[in-house]
Amino acid sequence: MCGIVGYIGNREAYPIVLKGLKRLEYRGYDSAGIALINDQKVKVYKKQGKVADLEETLLGVNLHSHIAIGHTRWATHGEPSDANAHPHLSPSGKIAMIHNGIIENYLPIKKELLAKGYSFQSETDTEVLLCFIEDIQTCNQCNLEEALRIALRRIVGAYCLLLIDEENPETIIAARKGSPLVIGIGKNEHFLASDASPIIEYTKEVVYVKDYEIAIVKKDELVLKNLGNENQTPFIIQLDLDLAAIEKGGYDHFMLKEICDQPQTIHDCLRGRLDADTGQITLSGIQEYLEEIIRANRIIIIACGTSWHAGLVAEYIFEELCRIPVEVEYASEFRYRNPIIHLGDIIIAISQSGETADTIVAIEKAKEQGAIILGVVNVVGSTIARISHAGAYTHAGPEIGVASTKAFTGQLAVLMLMALKIGNAKKTIDQEKYQLLCKELSKVPDKVAEILLQEKRIKEIAIKYKSARDFLYLGRGYNFPIALEGALKLKEISYIHAEGYPAAEMKHGPIALVDEHLPIVFIATNDTFHSKIISNMQEIKARKGKIISIITDGDETASEISDDFIAMPWMNEIFAPIINVIPLQLLAYFIGTENGHDVDKPRNLAKSVTVE
Ligand code: M6R
Repeated sequence: MCGIVGYIGNREAYPIVLKGLKRLEYRGYDSAGIALINDQKVKVYKKQGKVADLEETLLGVNLHSHIAIGHTRWATHGEPSDANAHPHLSPSGKIAMIHNGIIENYLPIKKELLAKGYSFQSETDTEVLLCFIEDIQTCNQCNLEEALRIALRRIVGAYCLLLIDEENPETIIAARKGSPLVIGIGKNEHFLASDASPIIEYTKEVVYVKDYEIAIVKKDELVLKNLGNENQTPFIIQLDLDLAAIEKGGYDHFMLKEICDQPQTIHDCLRGRLDADTGQITLSGIQEYLEEIIRANRIIIIACGTSWHAGLVAEYIFEELCRIPVEVEYASEFRYRNPIIHLGDIIIAISQSGETADTIVAIEKAKEQGAIILGVVNVVGSTIARISHAGAYTHAGPEIGVASTKAFTGQLAVLMLMALKIGNAKKTIDQEKYQLLCKELSKVPDKVAEILLQEKRIKEIAIKYKSARDFLYLGRGYNFPIALEGALKLKEISYIHAEGYPAAEMKHGPIALVDEHLPIVFIATNDTFHSKIISNMQEIKARKGKIISIITDGDETASEISDDFIAMPWMNEIFAPIINVIPLQLLAYFIGTENGHDVDKPRNLAKSVTVE
């Protein structure tokens, strides 16, 4: 939530920060702003709306500066407005600050400051924190760095902060706890950002700032300190990321590009890990813990949103192939319960961003109680990747569209590999089936490519149903989580109400909704429950519901009952979810775009939910 960018060096800072904000806009887009030091004064420009709106208002303004910070906002405290947009200014007007996160105890601090006579221009927690910092500086007669350190010791919550001060125009001060911060190291210049996408154009050498660290950044010097003012050694890593991976490459939207990238991203995820001919699966990340996993009495999967749906698919697969009981938990619920965790329980934490606040706290809680944490993460070097004991990256590349698509199939591919590897090591899969499943999994990229050829047909279906008020998505077994995921995709980007349900549960309530206006999407490819789901389709047909079905190619029974259908290549039922989700992603995409929505930046959402 919220994207932050900073630059200090010899180049013009504004164009770099502006471009960076555009790259980070997926993190929040209700307002944007920048602060720079020009003519020895801190100047702030900010505006409700997207980064492009800010850019337009700044045409012709003298923005010359070699130091700047910028922010793109996802509102937490205070509605989206010019006043609530960041950066905020300190009472003296000399310090500007941007913030990603939430200061939970800002109200008592605000009361103290109001009692001292301060007033505020915005409703934000950020302005309160900045006022608090400057007040400490005034009262203690200390420098900004020391005042920040004192303030942060009183703060409860999450933050990534960047500050510039006209009294010290050669320095950006940054601090983080809970919200991400990457610093790119150039030649006589430094770049700061919430993730590496604004940085890779300039340098591949980066430092991931850790929780409770303060960075004092000059153009030619980077000093990291902890809150006790002790120097910390910056750990420089080399980014393995290409600029092309974060650009649209000719597609209208990142979401469409990311859907169409999936044959390649799934291939990248399997490459070097799965040898279908020999049945060799190499997951070096989890190898060290394989014995513990085999012995585990239980696996708990924690995640949010789409990643939680990947966890549900994994529940079915792990229980089938590894015979280990699996529980799938929303991280946000898990963290606030008093969960019962036994020493040696295995936690699998799934996250595209690796920065989801609820998932991070849930991991920490489980870790304290002795669980082994395996991370299934997309963003390399992210917090969850770092705090997990072991794990596997999904290798889907940067996902910019807010609706998760290629990251989801990457998660499924990793979890399928894990289940096969563990089942084989535990001998809960017979050898013949294991070899067959390895071969099946290796065919997924080609099958996904085949499905993508039906884009035009799916668009026609989208146009036919785009005005529906509600949708129901139904699936059974391995495909039940895909019904949930299909419904979530549609809700997110088309703003049409959609519910996912286990097909058999329909009779226990949702069937009351069915009439000739309700489209019902059945995920009904050939599997163990096929005849059962055909009966469910008949029940809907009898009540005049409109059936859109995802079926196996050649299934005449299902196609005849359906008003519209999308035919899928045959796939073993265990791996069917990874291909069955593709037409649902496209259906949601086309309904969203046909209704004129900005599918890459759906209202109210942000890509990375770094607040609880
Ligand atoms: O980065 P994470 O995978 O931890 O994010 C979890 C959810 O916020 C995310 O999947 C969200 O539901 C997506 N917008 C779904 O498309």
